[in-house]
Amino acid sequence: MLEKSGLINIYFFTGTGNTLSVVLRMADVLRSRGMEVKLHRMESVAPELVDTQHVVGLAFPVAVQGTYPFIWEFVKKMPEADGTPVFMVDTMSEYSGGIVGPMRKILERKGYMPIGAREIRMPPNIPLGSFDREKIKKRLEEGLKKAEKYAIDLMEGRTKWGRIPLLSDAMALISRSETSWKIMRKLLSWKVDMDKCVKCRLCVHLCPVSNIKWDGNKPVYGDSCYLCMRCYAFCPVDAIYSTSVIFSGQKYKAVRASDILKIKG
Ligand SMILES: Cc1cc2nc3c(=O)[nH]c(=O)nc-3n(C[C@H](O)[C@H](O)[C@H](O)COP(=O)(O)O)c2cc1C
Repeated sequence: MLEKSGLINIYFFTGTGNTLSVVLRMADVLRSRGMEVKLHRMESVAPELVDTQHVVGLAFPVAVQGTYPFIWEFVKKMPEADGTPVFMVDTMSEYSGGIVGPMRKILERKGYMPIGAREIRMPPNIPLGSFDREKIKKRLEEGLKKAEKYAIDLMEGRTKWGRIPLLSDAMALISRSETSWKIMRKLLSWKVDMDKCVKCRLCVHLCPVSNIKWDGNKPVYGDSCYLCMRCYAFCPVDAIYSTSVIFSGQKYKAVRASDILKIKG
């Protein structure tokens, strides 16, 4: 059960806005029940400065059965705690095998008290094919309802954080290994159509790992992309495209770029 009028700091990452939508909905519910909620973007906060005096929330998308290496790094670098309650929520399109248990293990070892973990299905954000708009809308609405319920359950102490040892630890290794990402990058690398590019540099601002640099008059990708889809989803003139035919489907985004950027640290 969460202490009324207490502070909750939620540290989140979102690629295309599903996780942010879930976090905003949870924050609304928690605030309506008297909690103070502060949101922090993981990419703009030093993990060492996570506030261990108050409840910590962690929210992020599923990627390759686990999550992005920079999220694992964030959690690994969080300070040691002495029983700080922590909860997590992830968003995914289908299934994650390698998050809930392994995250619990890391946090417990650091001295946090895991109070709840939930995984919420949201629309897929990989451009694999065309979207059925009605289906996407329904999935989004259902996901946000689950987010509301999770926030209420957290308030009322009805949440758990399970752990299946071995299998989920093994699956977590897939998303934590650089080899998986090297293979993914080969499948899905980005190109910029300079005839379309309006040089707004939004892609440079949005990249969570500073992998896009402004080179005189054009964006240039480095080789540490984690395929979070941000640059691709939010390019205002659709100048960014994948070199792979597999990823030439419709773009997906659940929020505007400014909704992400306006949340500072
Ligand atoms: C590179 C990549 C890998 C993904 N891997 C998985 C996965 O293993 N399982 C799954 O259910 N969804 C997977 N997804 C879908 C996202 O987890 C899902 O759409 C999520 O809600 C996106 O959240 P966001 O909009 O906050 O970035 C993946 C998406 C991307 C871009």
